[in-house]
Amino acid sequence: MKPSRDDDSERAINFQRKIRSFVRREGRMSKRQTTAYESLFPKYGLEFNRQLLDLSPIFERTAPTILEIGFGMGNSLATMAMENPEINYIGIEVHRPGVGSLLAAIEEQNINNIRIFSHDAVEILEQSIPDNGLDGIHIFFPDPWPKTRHHKRRLIQPAFVNLLSRRLKSQGTLHIATDWKNYMEWIEEIMTANHDFARLPDNTPHQRPTTKFEKRGIKLGHGVWDLIYKKT
Ligand SMILES: C[S@@+](CC[C@H](N)C(=O)[O-])C[C@H]1O[C@@H](n2cnc3c(N)ncnc32)[C@H](O)[C@@H]1O
Repeated sequence: MKPSRDDDSERAINFQRKIRSFVRREGRMSKRQTTAYESLFPKYGLEFNRQLLDLSPIFERTAPTILEIGFGMGNSLATMAMENPEINYIGIEVHRPGVGSLLAAIEEQNINNIRIFSHDAVEILEQSIPDNGLDGIHIFFPDPWPKTRHHKRRLIQPAFVNLLSRRLKSQGTLHIATDWKNYMEWIEEIMTANHDFARLPDNTPHQRPTTKFEKRGIKLGHGVWDLIYKKT
């Protein structure tokens, strides 16, 4: 049945009302980013089409898959992918200059184990990532939304963590880093209340290149917290 105009307008209102964890501030794209976006997205990009992803044909192999949400300019994702050629990486970022930068790095450094979505990670996880499809999820320095009235925009929320749990394989890891103490406490509280995850000790070795936002936080005198959880 064709949707009525009432259905359409209700959908439009719901879209507007949806609380998102980002504000699209496109900023200027450099020539390198624009060229890379236009010429390389068809090669390494994944279109969000509300269909479930079949990972093996995308990477032309079956391998452990790690998803990074909000990769920013993508430097740390590119480094991780080069250091771990046996792992498939999916990066998600809504900031197009960052997507352009990572696409340029992929081509310049001949990286073949990254694919990119340029869309809201919440919708991608809801509609395109299969249950038990991921070996790991990385969320490095998510926007802290420091004002109390903006806390509802924080990416880490109880319902979102439930969704992450469903998409992770058993024993899969969720690695979150933040330089914002109040957000660290917020994440700890949500994760403690979620019984699908067990926290790994703080001294657990992990491999994570320093990110652009992390460097900025360190310059401002912020601490850095890595919170790593295993799906039990
Ligand atoms: C504070 S930045 C950190 C970037 C990078 N991880 C770093 O450490 O340099 C957070 C990033 O997450 C992205 N982001 C926020 N919410 C998102 C969402 N729902 N889907 C995709 N990207 C998102 C923003 O565009 C932004 O680039």
